[in-house]
Amino acid sequence: MLVKKVFRLKNLRYGPFVFLVSCIENAPLDSLSPEGPYARSIDELFWITFWIAVGIFAIVQGALLISIFVFKEKEDSPEPKQIHGNTKLEILWTVIPVLILAAIAVPTVRTIFDLAREPENAMKVEVIGHQWWFEYKYPEYGITTANVLVIPADKPVRLEMWSNDVLHNYWVPKLNGKRYLVPGQTTYLNLHADSPNEFWAQCGEYCGLSHSKMRGRVLSLSASDFEAWVKNEQQKATKLEGDSLAAEGQEVYLNAGCTQCHVIDGVWDVQGDRIAPNLTHFANRNVFAGAALENNKENLTKWLANPAEIKPGTFMPNLELTENEINALIAYLETLK
Ligand code: CUA
Repeated sequence: MLVKKVFRLKNLRYGPFVFLVSCIENAPLDSLSPEGPYARSIDELFWITFWIAVGIFAIVQGALLISIFVFKEKEDSPEPKQIHGNTKLEILWTVIPVLILAAIAVPTVRTIFDLAREPENAMKVEVIGHQWWFEYKYPEYGITTANVLVIPADKPVRLEMWSNDVLHNYWVPKLNGKRYLVPGQTTYLNLHADSPNEFWAQCGEYCGLSHSKMRGRVLSLSASDFEAWVKNEQQKATKLEGDSLAAEGQEVYLNAGCTQCHVIDGVWDVQGDRIAPNLTHFANRNVFAGAALENNKENLTKWLANPAEIKPGTFMPNLELTENEINALIAYLETLK
């Protein structure tokens, strides 16, 4: 009884705040503030449908209110005329919704085809879903990276996507709708940002324990910045010599087991795919661990000490690293620019 009472009070207390969630401004995953042509065409379609629905709602509720208050039963009112089985009315209220749906279908179908069409002069990027992070490959440039998708702001990007394990779903709300990543099948999604900016991505399909932490960032750059980024990404890392803390960290990377899954071009090159992010330019990415964490010393320390505490179910094992090894490894990772 008491529990029920408290629960009800709590609901009352938090109820209004739940509504406030929809008023948050600058929410990074807000699908109602498009920042590119694809997201904008979806947004326009949404508002057309929304206002049609508002109109129907107003008409239906208005008719209901008029019926309740104007035509309410009075003491001497006769029995109203019965309309059950009236063919004319049945046809009328079947045809009207059909016409409304047909009208909505015109812009809907057009938008679906517009979104699916391969844009001209698009840059291709392959997106591969893993539990629980996104991998990006740029076949034109020979670049492999993770978590942060870097794109030029002045032209459209064509994503070719598939999954390495289970179903995932790629979603950058400010740039386009969702699209599935399916094992053994290629799906496509176009992205185009209005201007240089950073956007948030999120896996949109439940894909296991750390689905909610399967996030991403999309960084759109000006043409010259993008070119500089490509040039830098194409560089291999140089093997550190000497006895600095970073060089010690390189030894930890090479000997503690990291190389089983992580590649650093120029330091540990291997043929074929690895199941974890390529770390060659790790320090240039502002997030890591499936973009669940900001890339800083504090977060790296927590992650390297026990990855599963941050991402339950992660394939990154706890390597039982000592504090010194972790510090050295972080010093090394910070050199990977
Ligand atoms: Cu991948 Cu949810």
